[in-house]
Amino acid sequence: MDHVRQTVMSIWPSSVRGRDDGAMEIGGVSVLDLADRFGTPLYVYDEVTLRERAGAFIDAFSGAWPRTRVAYAAKAFLSPALVRILHDVGLALDVSSGGEIYAGLAAGVPASDMVFHGNAKTERELREALEAAVGLIAVDNLMELELLARLASERGVRQRILLRLNPGIDVHTHEKIKTGVLDSKFGLPIATGDAALAVERAITAPGLLLGGYHTHLGSQLFDPAALGAGIDALLGFAAEMREAHGITPEVISPGGGFGIPYEDGDVATPAADWAGALAGSLRRGCSRHGLPEPELIIEPGRSIAGPAGVTLYRVGPIKEIPGGRRFVSVDGGMADNIRPTLYGARYEASIANRRASGPIQAQTIVGKYCETGDVLIERAELPKVRTGDLLAFAATGAYCLAMASNYNLATRPAVVLVRDGEARLIRRRETYDDLLAAEILPDSARAELTTGKG
Ligand code: LLP
Repeated sequence: MDHVRQTVMSIWPSSVRGRDDGAMEIGGVSVLDLADRFGTPLYVYDEVTLRERAGAFIDAFSGAWPRTRVAYAAKAFLSPALVRILHDVGLALDVSSGGEIYAGLAAGVPASDMVFHGNAKTERELREALEAAVGLIAVDNLMELELLARLASERGVRQRILLRLNPGIDVHTHEKIKTGVLDSKFGLPIATGDAALAVERAITAPGLLLGGYHTHLGSQLFDPAALGAGIDALLGFAAEMREAHGITPEVISPGGGFGIPYEDGDVATPAADWAGALAGSLRRGCSRHGLPEPELIIEPGRSIAGPAGVTLYRVGPIKEIPGGRRFVSVDGGMADNIRPTLYGARYEASIANRRASGPIQAQTIVGKYCETGDVLIERAELPKVRTGDLLAFAATGAYCLAMASNYNLATRPAVVLVRDGEARLIRRRETYDDLLAAEILPDSARAELTTGKG
């Protein structure tokens, strides 16, 4: 547990402790009990950390820019139980599909508290958004604008929209999670004139009400100046549009992207620094261009859910290659966490069931799926891991289960929420029947399954 103690300040949920018996506890619950009761792999969310993360954004921004709406980017992890907690704390919801609207409504979030994003929303999804009366739709491109304008007029409603602009800003992050460069599928480029054309069309469309401008530059960012530059670009464009059409934005939204520490030694940017920088950019930009101060919408996803989540895996077979690596396999892998394979993302793990001692050695933590690339941690520096151990992975609350698959027909893990010594199951482990739920079975097989069951 020394390992946990050293890193507890940075990457683990705030309630993580070492118990006298050497096991890790989260939210006052021992990981031994969690694994016994719910099995592994298991995704554990610490409610206190979740509330702290949401509260940190709300507090920081309410001081720096009181007219701020914090919308949780549900794509990071949409569990209705978790979203319900975040909404109760005061967060709105950023949704990016018809499915997320549906699940958000199931969580009890009113549609008026949702902002709907996406570069290729389908006609069906736009209809569903109008039907539900989603508060804001962030329109990504000219075709979507035309389609939404038509659908809204047909329904006889006036839909409030934001225009998602592409300001051509390159941020420092992984190529696959950059979104603000000009040559990107996202947003209306300012440079090509698409953005200006969209404004012209939006303000003349009877079915649309232009609420303001949005951009999202990328994810896992640490430099507040990056989002500040996004705001500068939105306000500069807003000033041009005021000149051209006499309109000013009620809303300015620089999206999300607030980075989190994944490894010991990574340093987070405090919410107060983000708030100070964004408020500074807004204040300066509004005064420079003589624009009224808008409402600010920010959309943190990873930075809310990520640090609250821990994954527990059970260690299976271990294999040592003379002159090569020590492969420690676990009962999950790329089907529940694709991030190391997809982005080369790095995680830290700790032996969570016992007080592990002995020399630290490099070990390769691999998953159970049929891919050589199914490596969770290439070089974990840990005391010798044993078969049967529980490994806890830190900072796995965002974009892990959210991007999970049923590869190799894996059943997706259960999810529990822990707090004050209590564990609450918020998503059960999938069953083999779940795996076949959408399949149309051949008649003979169906008969056999039915007979087998009877
Ligand atoms: N707003 C918009 C419009 C977005 O597209 C995103 C993320 C967010 C907010 C939230 O960004 P966050 O605060 O979570 O960084 N799967 C990748 C991340 C993709 C992010 C996509 N958009 C990963 O695992 O790193």
